[in-house]
Amino acid sequence: MLSLRPRAISGLRRAQPRLASSSGWICSGCRTNFAAVQRWNSSQSSAGSSSEKPYYITTPIFYVNAAPHIGHLYTMVVTDVIKRWQQIKGKEAFMCTGTDEHGMKIQRAATKNGMEPKEFCDVNSNKFRELVAAANISNDFFIRTTDQDHKDVVAQVWLHLKHATPESLGLYKGSHEGWYCVSDECFYPEDLVRPSIAPQTGKKIMVSTETDNEVEWIKEETWFFPLTKYKDALLKIYDENPGWIKPAHRMAEARDWIENHLEDLSVTRPASRLNWGVADPEDKSQTIYVWVDALINYLTKAGYGSKWHSAKEDMGLWPANLQVIGKDILRFHTIYWPALLLALGLPVSQGFLCHNHWTMSNRKMSKSLGNVVNPIFAIQRWGIDPLRYFLMRNASLHKDMSYSNQLIGTVYVKELQANIGNLFYRIAKPKASVRWSTLEAVTAYRNGDLNVWANKHGANDADAMYFSLEGHLAEKPVAFAKEMDDYDTSAAIREIFELLRETNRYVSDTKPWDLVKLQGAESRMLLNWVIYNSAEALRIAGILLQPIMPTKASELLDALGVRPDRRSVEFAVKGKDADYGTESTPAEPAPRMSKWDTIFPPTPSADLSDDELSEHLRVALLDKTRNKMNQMAELLAMEARMGEEAVAKLLAETHAAKVGARQS
Ligand code: ME8
Ligand code: MG
Repeated sequence: MLSLRPRAISGLRRAQPRLASSSGWICSGCRTNFAAVQRWNSSQSSAGSSSEKPYYITTPIFYVNAAPHIGHLYTMVVTDVIKRWQQIKGKEAFMCTGTDEHGMKIQRAATKNGMEPKEFCDVNSNKFRELVAAANISNDFFIRTTDQDHKDVVAQVWLHLKHATPESLGLYKGSHEGWYCVSDECFYPEDLVRPSIAPQTGKKIMVSTETDNEVEWIKEETWFFPLTKYKDALLKIYDENPGWIKPAHRMAEARDWIENHLEDLSVTRPASRLNWGVADPEDKSQTIYVWVDALINYLTKAGYGSKWHSAKEDMGLWPANLQVIGKDILRFHTIYWPALLLALGLPVSQGFLCHNHWTMSNRKMSKSLGNVVNPIFAIQRWGIDPLRYFLMRNASLHKDMSYSNQLIGTVYVKELQANIGNLFYRIAKPKASVRWSTLEAVTAYRNGDLNVWANKHGANDADAMYFSLEGHLAEKPVAFAKEMDDYDTSAAIREIFELLRETNRYVSDTKPWDLVKLQGAESRMLLNWVIYNSAEALRIAGILLQPIMPTKASELLDALGVRPDRRSVEFAVKGKDADYGTESTPAEPAPRMSKWDTIFPPTPSADLSDDELSEHLRVALLDKTRNKMNQMAELLAMEARMGEEAVAKLLAETHAAKVGARQS
């Protein structure tokens, strides 16, 4: 059985051959060498070998200056979806998320709330942890940068950068002045700040041109990381790994920064100004820069500093296969972070996925702006699986995404209730008077009866309608996998939506409720053929939807009688599982729960009853059915036949005609 719960990390495989063959590795204290880059490059070609390390995926760790919002939930969900996708492909996978708790931003937020920093962090970190649980995130680690084991690793890394990294590439002490932004926790170069007016006070201030957050001039003695010395090594990684950062325009953005804005990094603050952080173990008057502290979290949970200490050993989970980030923290992850790893003689992460932001009324959702959606309320309103579905469906790597309950409501009714839930009930739980079952249909397939029937009729033009789902059953799962491997959850979901919409069309065309009335074995086989194909579409969709809606997909697969050990991607192929199906009428008839039975029950929030769409749908589809969900299914069937645009046009015309009639 393919378990979605990971095994203990102690089960990690031993040394990988790509490490054994890395004879080019040179002790980091000896001379300048970027062996780690080469090592990673050579690991690319050995991908897929049986000694592959487990898949390791991370989210950013989130600041605890305020409670989480929908943006944070989105990052967690997309990371979880990719992890679960790896798992149903048969890989062992681990995921890390957590909270970023040190630095000036948090210290000030704690003071503002009249709390001790640690106490303040405990409260807000818990809110993130609760969200992780409520969102059914399958994380294996939840790191807090205030954890002792992490602080120990930060100290070790620090000493390595000071003493073990080749001298010209390691830390040096100097005097630093520049524009510091507490909100973004970083310095900005002179050309990226501008004068502005503080909205509340009307005072003249300086702000970052990137984030509009206030910057302050700072002059102090600090340690520096010689980032400029890493320029060529960084550009080499960029040159040699074109798909390293997705999407490509983010890679171009990061490269532009390397080429035009690189400066050495000030990586400490005097403890007199900032003491909420990890102190330099040799010089307690300096506190380590919060971003260095934070980035190291990815190594802490990969076992660096505790289970292994250099690239010569089995590095466990390291390097990360994919690091998911928002566009706001691209530079830290794709410039500072790989440079730090090079300085440690460690391989850099294998890839980054950089997503856009969720907005409310076209403004970035942010804790500081206060226009945030509380994800816990959203989960209570919609249920976590519908919300996960919506976030993944409307995800974009190219433009900002807009969040609204109205958008979710429409998706809920059309795609979840009608396209999936209603189709399932039509096929697998028909009314008692309609005597067919998925068990009978799948059994007919297993016995070979359906093949006999299909061989006899497949070439008949007159029967073409009964074979009109075949192409979709073959193509959509393949297209889904390709999109998921590109991390395009939206396009992937679209493939499933289309497969099921075609199935709704297929059911509408073939009318099994009429076929069931015909007499004779041949007609029964035709009925079973139609039910079997529809059940296959549902079974395949159920398997592929598991990463996105883990609970609802399991419910669907359970209700179809699909065995737990047949839910991995290899089974998402027509005919691959010939041993599922259920009787349509349970021994004891279930009580009628609601207006319509579906695994996506009516929700008061999905208020489409008075929606224009339904009203005009009824006009267009009245002769078909009076059942609201079946009307929606018929609309989907129409879309499959005519195309979405033609249906939208038709609906608009119907609407115009009605309004016209009302007015005259
Ligand atoms: O930057 N839409 O933490 P943070 C989508 N602690 N995603 C959003 C979002 C939005 N409107 N707002 C935030 C930090 N995010 C650092 C990271 S990592 C070593 C340290 C998500 O609390 C997105 O993933 O500001 C973004 O990159 C992250 O939250 C920033 O969270
Ligand atoms: Mg932020």
